[in-house]
Amino acid sequence: MNGNQALKLTGIDALAFAGPAGFLDMTDLARARGVDPSKYLNGLGQRRMAIATPCEDTVTMAADAGARALEGFDIDPADIGTLIVGTETGVDHSKPVAVYVHELLGLDQHCRTFETKHACYGAMAGLTASMDWIASGRSRGRKALVIASDIARYGLNTPGEPTQGAGAVAMVVADQPRLLSIDPVRIGDYTRQVMDFWRPLYSKYAFADGHYSIQCYLDALVSARIDAVGERDDVLESLSACLYHVPFVKMAFKAHKRQLEMEFGGELSRDHTESWQLLSQSFERLVAPWLSLNADIGNIYTGSLFLTLIDLLRQSADSLAGREISLFSYGSGCGATYCIGNIVDGADRWRGALDPVAQLDARRRLSIEEYEALLADTELADRLERLEPSSYGLEGGLYYTGTRDHCRQYTRI
Ligand code: HMG
Repeated sequence: MNGNQALKLTGIDALAFAGPAGFLDMTDLARARGVDPSKYLNGLGQRRMAIATPCEDTVTMAADAGARALEGFDIDPADIGTLIVGTETGVDHSKPVAVYVHELLGLDQHCRTFETKHACYGAMAGLTASMDWIASGRSRGRKALVIASDIARYGLNTPGEPTQGAGAVAMVVADQPRLLSIDPVRIGDYTRQVMDFWRPLYSKYAFADGHYSIQCYLDALVSARIDAVGERDDVLESLSACLYHVPFVKMAFKAHKRQLEMEFGGELSRDHTESWQLLSQSFERLVAPWLSLNADIGNIYTGSLFLTLIDLLRQSADSLAGREISLFSYGSGCGATYCIGNIVDGADRWRGALDPVAQLDARRRLSIEEYEALLADTELADRLERLEPSSYGLEGGLYYTGTRDHCRQYTRI
């Protein structure tokens, strides 16, 4: 038996998405900003973006996604021994989102619970930490619940405005996973201090050096991949899908182009028809089919990569059973991980539990006026004593309903 075989098979055992009840259509936004809609639809690749009301925050989305993952995959909350919430939209400087979620999900008191922050990388950090926790034997047969939950806000009339979004992805990490096993050896990391995107303590809105952030992302991809699989030029041919962090859909195309260039040994350009065709075919086969949820939801920061995994599993878990895929997580600032996973045989049985399309179909299209009013209300929401979910058209669900005596209140209505 070699070293690899002796390692425990761990990975993602359950997955679920939850997001806000409203969305903005990208054509409406483009018209309001006097921009050619084709820039947002084709240049960035986005159709819609999820918009949270002040009553839908990181905690409510995380708890909703967590409940869907546990119920949909028949997991007893008592079996969860670690809860990690990856977020860059915390609701308190000190108190972790995870501890609210721990109570809301009714988890055991002997559960290790914490929040991870590293921009969009927080959930991947939680996933790998959970794999290590299981592999070390400290889990004692229990599972980890890792939830990515975020609201992307760049502010009105900024270049980042069309790349907003909101939502949470919950994943249960376990040995003998039912959806995706992750190779504990072909996994590579990368860290570098850069100011490409950040959100100072005094701001609800992110600051981004947008074009520089794209460069930082691509540099991280190259380095993390080399750390995972070395300088090999035959990785892509053995893969059935390449999943990327998706701040906007077109970024996945740029990333895939860079990955292919690493193997091709030179720049791929529209001017060279043959090489461009190679790129288009590879992108259409390995990347494009799993970007539709991201195009309809927008950037959900920590959860974006895992949304592409949900999209893949809901469509192709059957045909890709037993096949290898790559996953690339990037968080500004910056940190990244590239790894190889394997779709578990039988994963297609769980399609119904992880497919969020019914949720998305039930969303309400917001007008530009409603969207702008929501952003203004959000500025004040942390300090208001009473918030009324019904005033935002919200009906049944768990909502943030105001802060009393400096304590956030969560109410299920
Ligand atoms: P911009 O400068 O307004 O857009 O901002 P642009 O001029 O670069 O145009 C975008 C694309 O649309 C270009 O395509 C144009 O050619 C095309 P490309 O050359 O890139 O292929 N275009 C058109 N296409 C069709 N019809 C038209 C048309 N006009 C132009 N009429 C930018 C774009 C992404 C920079 C901005 O939205 C931004 O700053 N976003 C936020 C930062 C971001 O998303 N960075 C991504 C990498 S960093 C990351 O992923 C981490 C992050 O998720 C945060 C975290 O980790 O927490 C952001």
